[in-house]
Amino acid sequence: MNHLNQDSLTQAVIERLAHTPNPRLKEILSSLVTHLHAFARDVHLTEEEWFQGIEFLTATGQKCTSTRQEFILLSDVLGLSMLTVSMQNDKPQGCTESTVFGPFHVPNAPQYENGADIANGASGQPCHVHGFIRGKSGEAIANATIDVWQADDEGHYDVQKEGLDHAQARGVLHSRTDGSYDFKSIVAEAYPIPTDGPVGHMLEATRRSAWRPAHLHFMIQAPGYQTLITHVFRRGDKYLEADPVFGVRQSLIADWVRQSDGLTDLAFDFVLNPVV
Ligand code: BEZ
Ligand code: FE
Repeated sequence: MNHLNQDSLTQAVIERLAHTPNPRLKEILSSLVTHLHAFARDVHLTEEEWFQGIEFLTATGQKCTSTRQEFILLSDVLGLSMLTVSMQNDKPQGCTESTVFGPFHVPNAPQYENGADIANGASGQPCHVHGFIRGKSGEAIANATIDVWQADDEGHYDVQKEGLDHAQARGVLHSRTDGSYDFKSIVAEAYPIPTDGPVGHMLEATRRSAWRPAHLHFMIQAPGYQTLITHVFRRGDKYLEADPVFGVRQSLIADWVRQSDGLTDLAFDFVLNPVV
């Protein structure tokens, strides 16, 4: 113990975890220590550099509030969110792909009937969104809970607007007996993820774009099916290839069709994976 050196330190830390009662916690922490130490060795991390790292993580924590989740942003821009999403949602062919949750979901959003306008004052071009919720075998899923949220045409979610006291461009609906759903809202536009915190500074230091391609967020839940958390992206958006959070999937890109009456139409069907 008194003779620990840079070669024996990693094993010593792992041995300290030997009595962790929860085996999964033990596995995760042991692997974390192994990989963290390997990383430090790999880049020959100096004390000054690690101190800067600690300052960065401290600033990330200090930036967090109930409506500003800087740690989620950090996980997202490092690709870690999308890696865990991809590993856990390796679904059969035909099921709708999952993507990042993001930091702007709000639990208990207002409930709406099908056909309602969920914009509730949010600025943007009018949009009609409709489709079906089905299972993998094509069966209609009735009464699925459809939680939808999006930014306005200036790229702001309602929770980012100071002084706004009601939900905008978010709501909860339920699919009809035949699995169909429809609602009105506004056309989503591309927007930058928040850049006024440590994650934004990191993007700047690495010359990365902060712009997310236009999208609508969905969380769809139904008994007997895996919860689906996903987006629908807009075909032709110039940021599709450079999403800072790596969330774009080809199968989630849809045509948002501007009609002669000025209304944009978006048709998108969701296929849920049954729980086995
Ligand atoms: C979002 O789409 O709301 C989002 C996702 C990841 C990071 C920031 C924002
Ligand atoms: Fe978003």
